Amino acid sequence: MCGIIGITMRRGNATPIIVEGLRRLEYRGYDSVGVALQSGGRVEIRKAKGTIDSFVRKASVMSLRGQTGIGHTRWATHGPPNDVNAHPHTDCRGEIAVVHNGVIRNYSSLREELAARGHRIISDTDTELIAHLLEEEASGTGSMVDALARTLSRLQGSYALAILYSREPGRVYFAKMHSPLILALGEEGNAVASDITAVLDVSRRIIPLNDGEFGWIGPEGVEIYRLTPSGYTRVPPREVESRVKFIEWTPEAASKAGYPHFMIKEIYEQPQAVMETFNGAVDDPALAEASRLIAGARDVLVVAAGTSYHAGLVFSYHLYRLARRHSIPIIASEYKQYSPAVGEDTVVVAVSQSGETYDTLAAVREYQSLGARIVGVTNVVGSALDRISDITVYTRAGPEIGVAATKTYLAQVTVLTLLAGYTGEARGVLDRGAREVREPLSRVHEVVNDAIRSSEPYAKQLAGLEGSMYILGRGLGSHIAREAALKVKEIAYLHAEAYPAGESKHGPIALVEPGFPVFIVATSDSPEVAGNAIEMHSRGGRVMVTKPADMGLEIPRGIEVLDLPPSHGDPVLEPFILAPFYQLLAYYAAVKRGYDPDKPRNLAKTVTVE
Ligand code: G6P
Repeated sequence: MCGIIGITMRRGNATPIIVEGLRRLEYRGYDSVGVALQSGGRVEIRKAKGTIDSFVRKASVMSLRGQTGIGHTRWATHGPPNDVNAHPHTDCRGEIAVVHNGVIRNYSSLREELAARGHRIISDTDTELIAHLLEEEASGTGSMVDALARTLSRLQGSYALAILYSREPGRVYFAKMHSPLILALGEEGNAVASDITAVLDVSRRIIPLNDGEFGWIGPEGVEIYRLTPSGYTRVPPREVESRVKFIEWTPEAASKAGYPHFMIKEIYEQPQAVMETFNGAVDDPALAEASRLIAGARDVLVVAAGTSYHAGLVFSYHLYRLARRHSIPIIASEYKQYSPAVGEDTVVVAVSQSGETYDTLAAVREYQSLGARIVGVTNVVGSALDRISDITVYTRAGPEIGVAATKTYLAQVTVLTLLAGYTGEARGVLDRGAREVREPLSRVHEVVNDAIRSSEPYAKQLAGLEGSMYILGRGLGSHIAREAALKVKEIAYLHAEAYPAGESKHGPIALVEPGFPVFIVATSDSPEVAGNAIEMHSRGGRVMVTKPADMGLEIPRGIEVLDLPPSHGDPVLEPFILAPFYQLLAYYAAVKRGYDPDKPRNLAKTVTVE
């Protein structure tokens, strides 16, 4: 979804900081880019279709100078990606410039109404309407705060907004409803942005904003207001101060650091990501509390989207095997089906790297309103999920910029495996208590390191695969296979279908012809997978078995075996052994096919719309 940023500095030029912030936000959308700067009592705008690199080359943005500005990177909703629909959008007089992430639902009626009142609307976007509404409201009052509050009361839907007004130099106005927005408070100035990575150059002291909040930042201070049914009130400065959080991420962690792509950098960062996550979680009282909650619940729902859902599947598997707790993994956008049975004795484990995915938050809000307790698992301190959860357990993977989740997946699996083991201990069903997960996981850094090293040559060798493929697994392997297929599809644009291997006889095998690629994700809980490999091979499929090296499988000649580090028969370590190969396969296949793995088409890292 779109990324927005606004910066106001005491001195110097905000343009390079905005452009760098937009580079870090580009994972949110790369349909178009735009910047507006306040300079000499005017608002100057540059915007264009395409990526930030082409924008910087073509749009003479670097010649803009000013201490206050806003920027936007777009993932198109209303109107196709083109120069006109690129943000910022302005009012008729060009005094107000608006950037927006979100969707205004009452777009059609507002557009008709504004057009009838004589506004010339030039783009297809919902955002432009906000600029025109503000123009009307601002002309009727001396106060932009009043004008903004009145404009917001007219909007239905979701928004994170950053706004420049030429008559108020040095200020960036902002507003938030259902789309992420944070403030950063620095020595040299202040900033507002869709996420933390964009403002790391300004400050690591941030304030996450709540829905219904709006206000302004100036170089010397900020004011936050809250919409109320009858208007708005100011958030007291003491409360604002108490909400400041210090973020440990550094600007270097959010840069490519010499790697060609974020994705490969983040794959290589996995040993550290899992180790830091393990060290941070192992004695975390929040994890112990979460496990007690899960142990005592009537129902356990695991809610997430995308890769986080796949980590949730691994959790659900471990929870059953290690804690004898049944749970229902739910794709976040399907949450409504389960609402009728949710109540006070339901515990929801919500997994989200960003903590901002619309569907996951919608599920959490609904289940919470029905009385459920929420355990949030997120990588982003201060994210919406963090703030609404009863208990938050953090992954400590550092900032992830590549659109496809890699290091945060294994970090989620680390924390969720611990959580399953602790729940087993709380329920008294594990012979060795939590040691059953703690001990193997204490080696996870080394295991992931070895897995990456041994996978790399296989992945490079197989990067030229074409057409469709199956990725089959049984038991734990079937869950890892789903994440593997997602990576290959979204990054390399190769059709990859994950299927439970035993079930593949009931349909998928019909497509297998000579040479058809079939990967097998072999895990120690399911040696029967060897039989499925043989069935596929007998139909002429090109079968490649990925397995822990010490897993003995009787595999006939002609089937390729890709031996990965040993697991000593411990399923707890197997996602860490097997997943990196498929991440690397997706990465090298994308590069070989000429695609940018950091910017998969049509995708955005954080999906903040329904
Ligand atoms: C998008 C991203 C995925 C991510 C999913 C869920 O689809 O491209 O990489 O797994 O959203 O995001 P979340 O932040 O909730 O984990």
